[in-house]
Amino acid sequence: MAIFLDTGKIEEIKKFHRMGVIRGVTTNPTILLKDGVKGGVEGVEKVSVEIAKLIRPYPLSVEVTTNDRTQMIAQAKRFASLAENINVKITAHGPNGELDNFEVIHELETKHNIRVNVTAMMSAQQCFLAAMAGATYVSLFGGRVNNMGYNCIEEIRKLRKLIDDFGLKAKIIVGSTREVLNIIEWLYAGAHIVTAVPQLVEGMIVHPYTKETVQMFLNDAAKGANYHDAKIVSKKT
Ligand code: E4P
Repeated sequence: MAIFLDTGKIEEIKKFHRMGVIRGVTTNPTILLKDGVKGGVEGVEKVSVEIAKLIRPYPLSVEVTTNDRTQMIAQAKRFASLAENINVKITAHGPNGELDNFEVIHELETKHNIRVNVTAMMSAQQCFLAAMAGATYVSLFGGRVNNMGYNCIEEIRKLRKLIDDFGLKAKIIVGSTREVLNIIEWLYAGAHIVTAVPQLVEGMIVHPYTKETVQMFLNDAAKGANYHDAKIVSKKT
């Protein structure tokens, strides 16, 4: 089980990587746009190389920026060639349900030896077929599933059982994390990996009552030090 960071922010990646709590990074075009990555595909490549170098040997997922079959394959080859630990994100299908993507996923994994993270999936059945097609990672968008009124925990449980029973190599990444609680509950539901934004990972560590307790320790330590110093002073006199 592992936590990935869902971000394109270099400073945040450095911070959590230094703490030793993350085992990979995921990005997508929306995250990169929000995180200020500019310069089109070249900008994506530049930041991806930087992140991949920073976290290696841990994996980085980089999503293709096109839905054209030929271009998806070309871009996947290009991204995968940038660093050994880069895997390529391909959405399960196009915006109109185009099925080319599944052929691309299968081809990349079986003919080009490129690790694929099949993304933007909302159900166990989508992820199961992506795993059957040969995907290395299958990404279920837990928060979006819940927003539609379904409980993603049930999807995670079903999916993990299918993957184990069929002996498939795919690792389940659950993303679209909305609450700190999601991280642990989705890992325990069967996700191999949960990917979360830095703010939520920080939320797992920082607790208001811990802050108050630490302040109490510091205050009392300061008082104790003064008392101790005072005693030493009085002994000398
Ligand atoms: C996962 O790999 C995705 O990058 C991400 O978690 C999507 O989440 P969203 O629903 O916040 O867009």
